[in-house]
Amino acid sequence: MADRTEHDIADPALADLGQQRIAWADANMPVLASIRERFAKERPLDGVRVAACLHVTTETANLLRTLSAGGAKVYACASNPLSTQDDVAASLVRDEGIPTYAVKGESSDLYYAHIDAILDAHPGLTMDDGCDLVSRLHKDRPGQVKEVLAGTEETTTGVIRLRAMQKDGALGYPIVAVNDASTKHMFDNRYGTGQSTIDGIVRATNILLAGKRMVVAGYGYCGKGVASRARGMGAQVIVCEVDPLRALEAVMDGFRVEPMEIAAREGEIFVTVTGDRDVLRREHFQLMPDGALLANAGHFDIEIDLASLADLAGATRRSVRPGVEEFLVPHHTGEPTRVLVIAQGRLVNLGAAEGHPAAVMDMSFANQALVAEWVVKHGKNLEPEVLGVPEEIDSEVARLKLASMGVEIDILTPAQQEYLSSWATGT
Ligand code: ADE
Repeated sequence: MADRTEHDIADPALADLGQQRIAWADANMPVLASIRERFAKERPLDGVRVAACLHVTTETANLLRTLSAGGAKVYACASNPLSTQDDVAASLVRDEGIPTYAVKGESSDLYYAHIDAILDAHPGLTMDDGCDLVSRLHKDRPGQVKEVLAGTEETTTGVIRLRAMQKDGALGYPIVAVNDASTKHMFDNRYGTGQSTIDGIVRATNILLAGKRMVVAGYGYCGKGVASRARGMGAQVIVCEVDPLRALEAVMDGFRVEPMEIAAREGEIFVTVTGDRDVLRREHFQLMPDGALLANAGHFDIEIDLASLADLAGATRRSVRPGVEEFLVPHHTGEPTRVLVIAQGRLVNLGAAEGHPAAVMDMSFANQALVAEWVVKHGKNLEPEVLGVPEEIDSEVARLKLASMGVEIDILTPAQQEYLSSWATGT
């Protein structure tokens, strides 16, 4: 069993900065703060061991503080090798007593060793972002699966993996798809990914977006957010899609829609946000204009085929700015061209910026905290399947968020209520 003083972080001396930045985020997370206050009184998670594999950011720190306030014993590790904020990890260890295993830029081996370290704590509840924790647990420690009451999953990608596990009969305990709450994906995926992806690209490169041709691959909630924010800053956005309904939506939202084979020749900035592999691949790199910038906003670093890019560039790859690597590739016209990759093709918003702003993570993590409370109450009666977030939690998060913003809404009159529940009245 893990010792609560154990940890693996980059630099304990960064704790002061981490503490200051966590407090800054907290000021923008009023819904989570109100839940923390209630949790401190009611202790709904008393004695529950929580293994949290999440991006170690200021916002996550405030979620973990909330779980601790509710009585949980929390163990944390990174859900991506590049997204850890080392100052936050230091403060979690020093100020919150949370065993934290996360180092920005950690190798793949260390990343998995950190997941193993929090699994060594024998959690009763898993909190995952991308399904690496749950997948590792089921693959390597089948005997430990029955110790887990329930779990939660934060992302679209993770939910897709969990549904595949369920289909294969491999899922050993119930997991709530927090991603699927309306107060999560309609806001975090759209406004969070939209803004923070642009933030990552701009911080890494300091480029002007106005007038640039930006290709956005994928028009789910995340892609919609990126496309609309980029357009708002003056970029000419081209959308690539495989789903006819989403492609149609992009057309009617006023975007040019093209296959990548055509868009690749025109784009100056490319953003992948599909959740699938090889969206930008060998044949596309060789069509791109000189200086094309590539960024990925999907969960895993599989959307840009980096192996092919490295193969095309051979020894001609080099770092040109912190977080930006240049690859010289043979172009279809004969002249070699520069292709620039931001943040190693990993999640650009967390690799090159700070992830989603606190105000939007407030809702995502309010869902996480309330769902943790709900599964502790109901977990024993749940089947080992992927579950939706209970509607009352989703509405409660929306209600609390509106209240925190000072926004009031209308209430149905009794006659309106009756009308909506009757079928007899027509024309
Ligand atoms: N995912 C995207 N942005 C995030 C953030 N700021 N904190 C934790 N997880 C995130």
